Amino acid sequence: MEGPGFRQLGMDRMAGLVYSTGHIHFIEKGQRMDGKIIKVGIAGQGRSGYDIHARWLRTVPQQFQIVAVADLLPERRAQAKAEFGCRVYKTYEEMLKAGGFDLFVNATPSFLHPKAAIKGLQAGYHTVCEKPSAVKLSDFDKMLDAADESRKILAPFQNSRFQPAFIKIQEILASGVIGPLVNARLSYSGFARRWDWQTRQEMWGGNINNTGPHPLDMAVVLFGARPLEVYAKLASGPNSFGDADDFALVVLHGKNAPTIEVSVSSNLAYPLGDMFNLSGTCGGITGNFKSLKWRHFDPAKAPKQKLMPSWSDKRAYNSEVLPWVEENWTCEIPDVFQTISKGFYDCIYNAIVNKGKLVVTHEQVRRQVFVLEECHRQNPLPKLAAKKAALKKKA
Ligand SMILES: NC(=O)c1ccc[n+]([C@@H]2O[C@H](COP(=O)([O-])OP(=O)(O)OC[C@H]3O[C@@H](n4cnc5c(N)ncnc54)[C@H](O)[C@@H]3O)[C@@H](O)[C@H]2O)c1
Repeated sequence: MEGPGFRQLGMDRMAGLVYSTGHIHFIEKGQRMDGKIIKVGIAGQGRSGYDIHARWLRTVPQQFQIVAVADLLPERRAQAKAEFGCRVYKTYEEMLKAGGFDLFVNATPSFLHPKAAIKGLQAGYHTVCEKPSAVKLSDFDKMLDAADESRKILAPFQNSRFQPAFIKIQEILASGVIGPLVNARLSYSGFARRWDWQTRQEMWGGNINNTGPHPLDMAVVLFGARPLEVYAKLASGPNSFGDADDFALVVLHGKNAPTIEVSVSSNLAYPLGDMFNLSGTCGGITGNFKSLKWRHFDPAKAPKQKLMPSWSDKRAYNSEVLPWVEENWTCEIPDVFQTISKGFYDCIYNAIVNKGKLVVTHEQVRRQVFVLEECHRQNPLPKLAAKKAALKKKA
């Protein structure tokens, strides 16, 4: 497997599990889930560390136990101590040094991801790393090297991979009914102003680093292991109070490959259509997290046509009735976010306890990091003072 965004990786990093929306189980048949309780140390108790990771982990005491937490904020440490009865530390470094756990969950702010993940692996812990794992290939490769050297698992937290709607999309594509994929549009856009750290370049904020890793992960899966080219446009407007992008349009394309468009704009007052829109040669899929519909026709049942040898017939355009079939799917799962976290953590549990394979492979994440690096390389944005001066001049 060659091309941009790839390096040779061992076979154990190449495969993923087969999974389906029928029964959301990410564990290979015959694997035992009982017995070992994995002790966890979580760094960061924000929207991710508390609301996603701890929210799930505290519900599965037969698999995981939160034994340590690190956070800069005393009130978040106090809350963790009270709710999980765990040890608490101010920084992730202090928590790593104290140890006493098997799995390090790196839910620190984005710019700390490579540094903290490498420290976690070097300290001898399996490591879950929040997205974006890195925004430069050189950083991600250092993370892979640290995992190799420590012989510990590095599991990038690409939770959208376990999104039931995306799993359903992959099932429909694999069934072949819509034919080979020609184009996919993944729109994670809307209208929102933002003024938190996620709008600052120096903290690796911005739409493409923050929201982007969700649709980009899907885009990488849909694109497949083909030579990849990237077109990217980023912009930072007045609705981002920092200097990072609040408009991102990224196109993954290549020879004999589908064209995958990802948009993450905070300037979209009216939707352009559904969140997901995929076109194949025999049909298409459209929808969102809650529901999907897809229409397709069987070319064998379509009227037989031949290339016309001459000009238009009676000045009319080609017209025919295709035997369309339409199907639909609705997500019946009450708490999708917890189901997504279950998918990820069942998989990491299986990887640690049974040496099972990770669904999210390193080479897929490496491709995503390649795309992120390309986005920034193609679009150097002005830093805060220059951006403010430019906006003032415009006004
Ligand atoms: N996968 C997802 O769906 C998802 C959702 C939200 C956030 N995230 C990711 O999670 C990461 C954190 O984002 P957030 O929204 O939780 O941020 P947040 O602002 O809500 O919380 C960040 C927390 O990190 C703590 N922190 C900062 N430096 C630290 C250090 N050195 N040691 C220990 N703790 C430290 C802060 O005190 C704070 O409590 C980001 O990289 C973001 O991309 C992922």
